[in-house]
Amino acid sequence: MTTRKILITSALPYANGPIHLGHLLEYIQTDIWSRFQKARGHQCYYVCADDAHGTPIMLKAQQLGLTPEQMIAQTAIEHQADFAEFLIGFDNYHSTHSSENQAFAREIYTKLDAGGYIKRRSISQLFDPEKQMFLPDRFVKGDCPKCGALDQNGDSCDVCGATYSPTELKNPKSVVSGATPVLKDSEHYFFDLPAFEQMLQDWTRGGALQNEMANKLQEWFKDGLQQWDISRDAPYFGFEIPGAPGKFFYVWLDAPIGYLASFKNYCSKTGVDFDQFWQLNSDAEVYHFIGKDIIYFHSLFWPAMLHGAGYRKPTSVFAHGFVTVNGAKMSKSRGTFIKARTYLEHLNPEYLRYYFASKLTSGIVDLDLNLDDFSQKVNADLVGKVVNIASRCASFVTKKFNGTLSATLAEPELFAEFVAQGDSIAASFEEREYARAIRDIMALADKANQYIDAKAPWVLAKDDSKQQETLDVCSMGINLFRVLMHYLAPVLPNMAKEVEAFLNSELRWDNYQQPLLNHEIQPFKALMQRVDPVKVQAMVDASKDNLQPAAPVTAPAAVASATDNIEAIAPTINIDDFAKLDLRIAKIVSAEHVEGADKLLRLQLDLGNETRQVFAGIKAAYQPEQLVGRLTVMVANLAPRKMKFGMSEGMVMAAGPGGSEIFLLSPDDGATPGMRVK
Ligand code: MSP
Ligand code: ZN
Repeated sequence: MTTRKILITSALPYANGPIHLGHLLEYIQTDIWSRFQKARGHQCYYVCADDAHGTPIMLKAQQLGLTPEQMIAQTAIEHQADFAEFLIGFDNYHSTHSSENQAFAREIYTKLDAGGYIKRRSISQLFDPEKQMFLPDRFVKGDCPKCGALDQNGDSCDVCGATYSPTELKNPKSVVSGATPVLKDSEHYFFDLPAFEQMLQDWTRGGALQNEMANKLQEWFKDGLQQWDISRDAPYFGFEIPGAPGKFFYVWLDAPIGYLASFKNYCSKTGVDFDQFWQLNSDAEVYHFIGKDIIYFHSLFWPAMLHGAGYRKPTSVFAHGFVTVNGAKMSKSRGTFIKARTYLEHLNPEYLRYYFASKLTSGIVDLDLNLDDFSQKVNADLVGKVVNIASRCASFVTKKFNGTLSATLAEPELFAEFVAQGDSIAASFEEREYARAIRDIMALADKANQYIDAKAPWVLAKDDSKQQETLDVCSMGINLFRVLMHYLAPVLPNMAKEVEAFLNSELRWDNYQQPLLNHEIQPFKALMQRVDPVKVQAMVDASKDNLQPAAPVTAPAAVASATDNIEAIAPTINIDDFAKLDLRIAKIVSAEHVEGADKLLRLQLDLGNETRQVFAGIKAAYQPEQLVGRLTVMVANLAPRKMKFGMSEGMVMAAGPGGSEIFLLSPDDGATPGMRVK
């Protein structure tokens, strides 16, 4: 096998928030791949960094009364502690707010400018006159220009799903100060992405990308590439653009450059040759693992920037889907927005590594962390199957034979069958088909258990004339266990290390084919506890955003802020006003995503004698599959509204502030479609 040179990255997490279980899907997916490549003997490096720049980070630091530098230093410590405990084996972890990154950002920008790829022109944007700053879309709120719904986001309406520019909002307000923003002109710098279209088309067709991603790119090419605004005006936390005082690189310009910076930082500490990996025509491989939300940046802007500045492009970009918990987007009020730290306070990180691995494919599909399934699967597979093999075989060897395994292999064919699966399991890891690898490994674990069940060494052991035979069976079991743990090592690095100590033998791709014969092992210690559902529940409870004041008497400030969250009661109406509302029980007969709408689901509602189509802004809170078949309450006599995606013939009723915090009403058992709610 030839030694490959491989550089791997995960996306750089923002430095203004904690690592959560959604993030961890990506770092675990990448780490398994990196550990696998290293185990195969390749020259492989895995680097990452905090993404430390941008307006949200600047404003959050202000809120906390810190400088951005102080805040990102604190976050860097927390992120790295979380990653370390989840056994994410970065070779280097750096920051985009670093001298290396500034140097690369300047160099790349200067080269792009010299190549004629930087355009300058004036644009008009909303400006906060109190804060004296331009406002990114998400820092403006106002009333929807299409349907008039109050207090909508700067770029899209949660109620009707319309998308617009923040300058179209009615009654716009700055989220930062509450002031009414004004329009103001400023010169911006643009990266000429369209100039790279041909190169990007060729790169895409080269076959290095996942099919879904290549298709997405084709759509983007069809829509036409746009110049990309890469400058922001002061005040901004980032790097000033050379030769442009008061103008800064937009955070997404220097974020991917952080991959180069982190690797450079590593190379200067270790003497690894940076250029060998990044120069044009390099024979090294470079892979970026990312989430599906940031494909545009990594598959268009980033390769174009690299190309324009004379660097090689990534070998591939691997995107994954998003984590949902119990079938829905992670939610603070449901306790499913689970921080890495909260998880670690309750559960073993290797449970999550295993669970994610058992569900990960090479595709860009979302992955549901169902907490019941999680406990069940870890207990059944890891504790019930894998560890069980060793725990059933080890004590006899220790007690009766001083820990020395048999000199002969009882079932060479069975052992050979386990070893022979190595190639296809390795291929599954290589192709990022971890779920397939795990399925194959667990099928072997079943075989090993069947072997032990059939031989029943605990029965043999009672017969004095069968001591050698018992030893042979137990040794065979332990040798099968060793092969399985060798395959699982990239997923369960800690457990693999403990198994190496137990077996007095390293788990390696160049030695796992030879059984341990006449070999001394250590006494067996429990390798993994069962998942305790009580602890899972405790983790969920600890993740719940508690809006209730803890102790009103001693915490008046908390009372004030808790009641602030309750909307004021509307003006009184009489019973006739209420009678105008025709509320009906409706059964959701279908629910589906709407092409091109970020927040909407299209529902078909059965009202007993007719079916209505309703668009509901509940996509962030519910998966379509969760909704189909359930009953809810709808406003049946609301005037139909024509929306971009079709007619909406009514409204479903729900509580909550919006986003992922939406709670659909449901009737008690017995209600049927069409019943009036009075
Ligand atoms: N800072 C940018 C990335 C810059 S890369 C040059 C960013 N940061 S992030 O903190 O929002 O996300 C980091 C990574 O975690 C992204 O790849 C993102 O897709 C991934 N995830 C964040 N939430 C996730 C889930 N709920 N599920 C799966 N991955 C998720 O984006
Ligand atoms: Zn609207």
